[in-house]
Amino acid sequence: MTHISSRVKSVSGSPTVRLAGLVAEMRAKGQQVISFSIGEPDFPTPAHIVEAAKKALDAGFTKYTASAGIPELRQAIAEKTTKENGIAAKPENILVSPTKHCIYIAVNSLIEGGDEVIIPDPCWISYEPIVRLAGGKPVLVKATEETNFELSSESVAAAITDRTRMIIMNSPSNPGGNVFSKETIKGLTDLAKDHDLYIVSDEIYEKLIYEGKHYSPGSFDGMFERTVTVNGFSKTYSMTGWRVGWLVADKPLISEFSKIQEHTITCCASFVQKAAVAALRGPTEPIKAMFKEFRARRDLMAKGLKGLGVFDFKIPQGAFYFFPRYSMKVESRALAEKLLKEVGVALTPGADFGPSGEGHLRFSYATSRQDIEKGLEKIGKVL
Ligand SMILES: Cc1ncc(COP(=O)(O)O)c(C=O)c1O
Repeated sequence: MTHISSRVKSVSGSPTVRLAGLVAEMRAKGQQVISFSIGEPDFPTPAHIVEAAKKALDAGFTKYTASAGIPELRQAIAEKTTKENGIAAKPENILVSPTKHCIYIAVNSLIEGGDEVIIPDPCWISYEPIVRLAGGKPVLVKATEETNFELSSESVAAAITDRTRMIIMNSPSNPGGNVFSKETIKGLTDLAKDHDLYIVSDEIYEKLIYEGKHYSPGSFDGMFERTVTVNGFSKTYSMTGWRVGWLVADKPLISEFSKIQEHTITCCASFVQKAAVAALRGPTEPIKAMFKEFRARRDLMAKGLKGLGVFDFKIPQGAFYFFPRYSMKVESRALAEKLLKEVGVALTPGADFGPSGEGHLRFSYATSRQDIEKGLEKIGKVL
C-alpha cells in the first residue's frame, strides 16, 4: 500500500525539468530540437573555476566540510555581499547550499502550517510548490506586464491578512526579465516592517542586468533581520550542474536554518566549494564576456520576436528571458506543444508560471545566436 503525504500530493513536478528531459530524449533519437526552454547558460564553466575543482580533487579535498560551508567561501561571499549588495555581512551570516535548497530551507524554517506567503504571479515555477511542501498557503499577487512584472506595494498591501508571514520576490525576475525599481523595493520593505513579515529575496540573476540597477531589500533600513537574501553560481558563472549557491541572513536565523542543512544534504560538495571560491575571487573577464554575449542575444531576440508580428513585449532589462504576450487565441500549453511537435522548438508555456502567465510564452536566450535565428524562423513558419 502506498500512502503519499497530502503536502507532496499538493504539488506537481517541475514542468521545465520535465521538458528538458523530453528535449534530451528527442535529441537522443536523432531529432533536431532548438531549445528556448531551459534557464541554463550554454557556455562552459570558466576554466579557472574547473581548474580549482580539479586541484581540490587532486589534493584529496573530498570529505565532508563544515555544514554551512568552508570558511574561505563564507568569507568570500560575506565580502561580496558587503561590497556589492550593501548588506554588512560576516561569514556567520552565510549558509552555502544549492540556491533552490536555500529557498526551501528559508521557507520551511520561517512559516507555520497554514501561514500565507505572497508570491508574484507569474513567477519562477518552484516558489509555489516550495511553500506548499512547507504546509504554507501561496497567495498569488499579480505582477504582470501592466506593472512591468513588478510586485506593486498596492497589490501586496491588498493581499496581506493576519496569516501573512512572508513575501517572496525575485529581481531581476524569471520569467519577466524585469528589474525592480528602488521605489518598488522600498514600498515592499515598508510593508514587511509594518506587518512584521519576512522577505525572501531571490537575487540569482543579479549580475545579468543590462539596464537599471540592482537593489537588495536586505540593505534597506531595518530590513537585515527580516530578509533572507538568496543567490547562487548557476547563472552568473554557468555552473548549473555544480549545485552551489548561498543565502545571507541574520545569525539567529542561520543557526535555525543550519538544522535543515545538517539533517538533509549535510553540506555542499567539498571540491565544488573550492571552485566557488575561485569563481568569486578569480578573474572577471569570462563573466564579462558571457554578459556581453547575453546582451547581444537579447537584442537579436527582440528584433526577431518583433519581426514575427504576433508578440507584444517590452525589452527585458535583466536575466535571460523574454515573456511576450501573443495575439493568437490558443492556450500556451497547446501552443508550446504544437511548436515542439511541428518544428522542434521547445518553449515554456506561460501558464506554467502561474495563472497570469497564460497567453504568454517564455523564451530563454541562453542559447546560441545561430539557434535564436533558426528557432525564430521555424516558429514563424507555424505562426
Ligand atoms: C529565479 C530562480 N531562482 C532560483 C533558481 C534555482 O537555481 P539553482 O538551479 O542554482 O538551484 C532558478 C533556476 O532556474 C531561478 O530561475
